[in-house]
Amino acid sequence: MLASNLLRISVVLFVVGIGFGIGMGVAEDFTLAPAHAHLNLLGFVGLFLAGLYYHAFPAAATGPLARIQAWLSVIGAVIFPIGIAAIRIGGPTYRPVVVVGSLVVFVGAALFAFIVFRNGAGRDELQSKIDVG
Ligand code: HEM
Repeated sequence: MLASNLLRISVVLFVVGIGFGIGMGVAEDFTLAPAHAHLNLLGFVGLFLAGLYYHAFPAAATGPLARIQAWLSVIGAVIFPIGIAAIRIGGPTYRPVVVVGSLVVFVGAALFAFIVFRNGAGRDELQSKIDVG
């Protein structure tokens, strides 16, 4: 469930992110390129990879920590690019949005690293798949 939701959210952000890219191309205004890049990389690539990881290693997806990690990653992947866009358009007044967004992304990434290590990178599950296969 967690894995499928991450995959679904990531592809929605993918469509939004590339739509954003096409918009920049049409307008010939690349001011928001870093916001587009971070939305695609954190929102699509990052969340999609996390979704695939949780799908491959379901044991890692159980419990509240994985849910918190997923929520933080989704929230950070949206707030951070919005903050970058706000700074590019409105100036440094919007810096707090980027600071909050980047910290949320950081905590989500640190939790993900913890979950991957705690799960032994799925060693046991991989071994049982090899044994069955
Ligand atoms: C239809 C799909 C896409 C379109 C039309 C598009 C369009 C653009 C445009 C117009 C720029 C600005 C180029 C410039 O500043 O000269 C850009 C930059 C960038 N895009 Fe995309 N893009 C697309 C998909 C993606 C995807 C899928 C990713 C990542 C997974 C991505 C990552 C980046 C990065 C890293 C930059 C550089 C940002 C920077 O220089 O600050 N783009 N894109």
